[in-house]
Amino acid sequence: MLIESPAAGVRTVPVAALHGSVADPLLESMNFLNEVTARFPEAVSFAPGRPYEEMFDPACITEYLDAYIGHLRRAGHTEQQVRTALFQYGRTKGQIHDLIAETVANDEGIHIAPEAVVVTVGAQEGMVLALRALFADPRDVLLVSSPCYIGMTGAARLLDIDVVAVPEGVDGPDPAAVTAVACEVRATGRRPKAYYVVPDFANPSGASMPVEARRRLLAVAAAEDLLVIEDNPYGFFTRESEPRPTLKALDEDGSVIYLGSFAKTCFPGARLGYVLADQRVRAGDGTTGLLADELAKIKSMLTVNTPALSQAVIGGALVLSKCRLRAVSGDIIDFYRTNLNTVGVELERHFPAERRKSLGVRWNRPDGGFFTVLRVPFVADQAALERSAKEFGVLWTPMDAFYLDGSGARQLRISSSYLRPERIRDGIARLAAFITAETQSSGKDGQQ
Ligand SMILES: Cc1ncc(COP(=O)(O)O)c(C=O)c1O
Repeated sequence: MLIESPAAGVRTVPVAALHGSVADPLLESMNFLNEVTARFPEAVSFAPGRPYEEMFDPACITEYLDAYIGHLRRAGHTEQQVRTALFQYGRTKGQIHDLIAETVANDEGIHIAPEAVVVTVGAQEGMVLALRALFADPRDVLLVSSPCYIGMTGAARLLDIDVVAVPEGVDGPDPAAVTAVACEVRATGRRPKAYYVVPDFANPSGASMPVEARRRLLAVAAAEDLLVIEDNPYGFFTRESEPRPTLKALDEDGSVIYLGSFAKTCFPGARLGYVLADQRVRAGDGTTGLLADELAKIKSMLTVNTPALSQAVIGGALVLSKCRLRAVSGDIIDFYRTNLNTVGVELERHFPAERRKSLGVRWNRPDGGFFTVLRVPFVADQAALERSAKEFGVLWTPMDAFYLDGSGARQLRISSSYLRPERIRDGIARLAAFITAETQSSGKDGQQ
């Protein structure tokens, strides 16, 4: 916020003199959501994609930390080395890279050398590192599956990288559309450099790619000389007993840079994520190294290293799980599954087929993850959210910020992760009342 009449001696900087991103509505949309949530603390909130917090026990932090210290000692670290590992600046690429490599092998079938792992401050830092390293020329373009997680479009905005949307199809992210958009971009003299996609239960759409589409996407990436940036924070939370293979697990050409996050599988307070970047980089003298090492150079100037304490705590969680996080996460996986089912059941209860048809309301039915998207016959923007909060006590996320062209105005995202099922039932009843009232006042009732 700019102060109109600053006190003497306080310097005022015009916002126009700052980088354009700070005034970009995209970056302000998160602030707005946080601000509305703070103003209506009693409202049922389907807005945040946050993990459910009642399962977090503060005692776990020390338990995990002790497990990590025990792990170091068993591995032969002296007390001095343990102290250094916990208290000092650390290795730029991270210190739990071996535990992460073992965990992704067990949980995701991704076999990668620990040296190709960069431990980051959340997946968010991984996005910035990958973008900064890959985008070298103003003609380079980032393709994103659209609607797109705003962390990625926001990171591209910070770095002045051009982003072009590739619309999701009915089956989620669409390989044929990637080819088409890549050709269009080339026809304008620009270079599609990478494609960003969340193949499992995307944020915001909840959509996933069938395995066959994943294989086609990898073929497209090879044919189009594109790198794929795969972001996978929600793959754990599937309704199926067998998760679909990640793109990285299927990748035989080294096309996929994989962003991992412990925010949902452990907890976001640790701010811990990682990048798997096993691509080779050839230097001018013909020698080659790992892309992970180039990312580490950038990281050394961004966050120096990921906090040792966060790595120690998450490292301990991995040690205790024997690097099989999925196997020890049954309760939380069930919890999110129940929540997502509850959203579906309650929407169905409030909008049975005839009624949703007459109102013009539709929603998708993701088979996992946190998000469901509703299409409504009115503009579901920030003003509508304000009415929803004030008059009906329910919060959700407007979808327009997830589209580069501002479309999606008649869609809203509901996240089922943060609430208990009984609160979800109450919230969907409130949401149904809001949607009905809004539809009627926008004069759309009976149409469609
Ligand atoms: C698609 C997607 N990627 C990445 C993240 C952020 O991950 P992290 O908290 O590890 O930075 C989120 C968080 O909501 C997300 O939805």
